[in-house]
Amino acid sequence: MKQINIIDAKNHVDEKVKIGVWLTNKRSSGKIAFLQLRDGTEFFQGVVVKAAVSEETFLLAKELKQETSMQITGVIHEDSRSKFGYEIEVETIEVIGESADYPITPKEHGVDFLMDHRHLWLRSSKPHAVMIIRNEVIRATYEFFNAEGFTKIDAPILTGSAPEGTTDLFHTEYFDHDAYLSQSGQLYEEAGAMAFDKVFSFGPTFRAEKSKTRRHLIEFWMIEPEMAFMHQEQSLEVQEKYIAFLVQNVLDHCEGALQTLGRDMETLKKYTQLPYPRISYDEAIDLLKENDFDVDWGVDFGSPEETFLADHFNKPVFVINYPKSIKPFYMKPHPTRDDVVICADLLAPEGYGEIIGGSERATDYDYLYKEIEKAGLDTKEYSWYLDLRKYGSVPHSGFGLGLERAITWITGEDHVREAIPFPRLLNRIYP
Ligand code: 4AD
Ligand code: MG
Repeated sequence: MKQINIIDAKNHVDEKVKIGVWLTNKRSSGKIAFLQLRDGTEFFQGVVVKAAVSEETFLLAKELKQETSMQITGVIHEDSRSKFGYEIEVETIEVIGESADYPITPKEHGVDFLMDHRHLWLRSSKPHAVMIIRNEVIRATYEFFNAEGFTKIDAPILTGSAPEGTTDLFHTEYFDHDAYLSQSGQLYEEAGAMAFDKVFSFGPTFRAEKSKTRRHLIEFWMIEPEMAFMHQEQSLEVQEKYIAFLVQNVLDHCEGALQTLGRDMETLKKYTQLPYPRISYDEAIDLLKENDFDVDWGVDFGSPEETFLADHFNKPVFVINYPKSIKPFYMKPHPTRDDVVICADLLAPEGYGEIIGGSERATDYDYLYKEIEKAGLDTKEYSWYLDLRKYGSVPHSGFGLGLERAITWITGEDHVREAIPFPRLLNRIYP
């Protein structure tokens, strides 16, 4: 008899198979027991008919506790009434591990309770569906950048540099030096781009942000492509093509997970249509003012402004060329204006806000040297970065996609904590 996974049930209709499962729920009458089962790949129903199994098996089925693990055997049938489409008519049950009273019952629980039990909650259908989509986004990311000719260059996690400002650094000791946990791999990717043309990194990044919002994690994963001989406009084309590719792959490969989450596929389909609109920061300010927002030129946008802008276009939208005063030191200055830099944020619709931050990079040694000083950083510690402008400097651009922000948007979840297996939040480092 073949040992299979639930996800492959469609290939074994009317066949007798063996599956390792956990019990998620059950109900029974005098003659029949319905077992809700999962095996990590999918969820489906096992039917135990009293008249068809031994007396011991039927009694056992009725007494199983939630999360008991077992090996079952039985015959796969089509089941048009269930979402999954198949069920198993159980013949034998061998208990592998009994379960104590499981804390996550089928009733409603509060978010804090569920997050305290995240190590168990991951077994439930919704977190499971989000992680299946996360996995697909990661898989599609590698596929996309491979096909586009990028080389993956990993950036260090322990670093001496602070590309995104010094206020939210995680400080640590590195023998007798100071070190930080990486905020962004960008500066290293710039070195990589000068050696490999098109590169990307994908790794954890850390921000000791005191913000308790539905968009902020303390530890999040970032995908950071960097491209030599590339100006901002071409970089925006790569960005929108990449985002549309991610959404299309989730649509193509994760239909069941989207259904479990109640995410409307027609809405997602709209986001695969390119191009995404581009508006300047100046235009965004005007548009916001016309719509009764109290914003002055020079402010950074908060969640209400970002939500309005993306919903206005009903699509992800690039906001281009922000004020220099609110952006990091490495961005390329505008050729004719000294108050803005060549950069773009991609804002997702439906209230999800900035999912990508990117820019063209400053290429002039003296300009960059002064900007590093102005940012209050020690130019000696950035001499390696400045070197990149000494030996054959070229126009180059790059961007960072916040993985969890993108997943929260694609899945339609309401908090970025849902998009990572074990979230690190202001008040949570456990489990
Ligand atoms: O806009 P950010 O700060 O840009 C950078 O770090 C650049 N160095 C990237 C680059 O050009 N290579 O961050 C990039 C993205 C944001 O758009 C957002 O999606 C995500 O990272 N992000 C966060 N996600 C979750 N929690 C946080 N605290 C985040 N901070 C930024
Ligand atoms: Mg940003």
